[in-house]
Amino acid sequence: MHPCITYSHSHHMQHRRHNMRTSMYSVLLLQLVLAGAIARRVVVVEALDVGYYAATCPDAAATVRQAMELQFYNDRTIAPAIIRMLFHDCFVRGCDASVMIVSTARRSSERVAIPNQTLRGFNIVNRVKKALESACPGAVSCADALALMARDSVVLLGGAAYDVPLGRRDGLQSNPWEVDLPAPFARLDDALGAFAARGFSAEETVVLFGGHTVGATRCSHFRYRLAHPDGTMDEALRRGMADACGLAGGDLPPDADPTAFLDPETPFAIDNACYGQMMGNRSLLQLDQEAATHPATAGHVAYYAASPDAFVRRFSEAMAKLAAVGVLEGDAGEVRKVCSAYNK
Ligand code: HEM
Repeated sequence: MHPCITYSHSHHMQHRRHNMRTSMYSVLLLQLVLAGAIARRVVVVEALDVGYYAATCPDAAATVRQAMELQFYNDRTIAPAIIRMLFHDCFVRGCDASVMIVSTARRSSERVAIPNQTLRGFNIVNRVKKALESACPGAVSCADALALMARDSVVLLGGAAYDVPLGRRDGLQSNPWEVDLPAPFARLDDALGAFAARGFSAEETVVLFGGHTVGATRCSHFRYRLAHPDGTMDEALRRGMADACGLAGGDLPPDADPTAFLDPETPFAIDNACYGQMMGNRSLLQLDQEAATHPATAGHVAYYAASPDAFVRRFSEAMAKLAAVGVLEGDAGEVRKVCSAYNK
């Protein structure tokens, strides 16, 4: 090799190494500065805030409430359906409206996953979103709309009002394989683990099971408990449900499967009746029933069975906490124009 070339080569290398060192250093500096900026933004600028739409859509909450009231007086079963939808949305990728995306031929979504096949109320979400879009186009996210709708549902069903801080953004991912909601025949230990992973104590989990004080379930979710008495279901309830559901459901499609109220005493009231049912072996879902005897939950079930006011208050607090799980904020995600599809 020509010495000159060698020299100039090594000189060039030294020069480059020096430049690399300086540029690596400045990259590091830049990262530190950015990390600081991001950390500050998360804490100060991007936390959910009840006044988030004060400038862009001051009447957002009122618009949602009016639309919900109109729908509710037409069909009150929408309120339990929306409460359940919030749970299914927030447990998967956080409260980002990922549950609302409709599958296309090219891209399937959370909605095809088994627990979501019995969700209802997507048409109500679309109606509320339309009302929001005509009041303030492009301003209010579907995730915020659902959080407000769930709060209004609780109130319409006689529960306690609570504040809903806003500023959630809509997610850009919705994948069926990420839907890891517990099944109604899951072990309670596993379900408690799933709630703990999202920040909920056993007590809060018991309070959220109180969601089953309203609404209905398909027989397929508990029919297997009817055929053979095993002592975990009150015998009169078992016989009545065997009549109502039939013992052989086979593969009935969800629409053809009969339904039963989860709380037959007061199916449209947020009250503590479901805990009395748990304690009397009168829960339809196996998981709810196990909560009455499991050492981590039995005490809470007994407490809420005896404390109607405490339940109503704690349920609203737990719903507010549920509505804040894993939210997207700031520039993350987007504000969808329609809730069932990503923006183009
Ligand atoms: C491990 C936890 C849970 C399991 C396994 C579970 C399971 C179920 C099942 C199987 C149904 C019946 C669905 C149908 O057949 O249409 C149902 C309904 C319902 N769930 Fe849950 N659930 C759980 C937690 C929750 C939570 C945390 C909430 C909200 C606070 C909730 C609120 C509701 C409501 C309101 C309904 C009635 C829906 C309607 O009438 O359309 N559930 N749940």
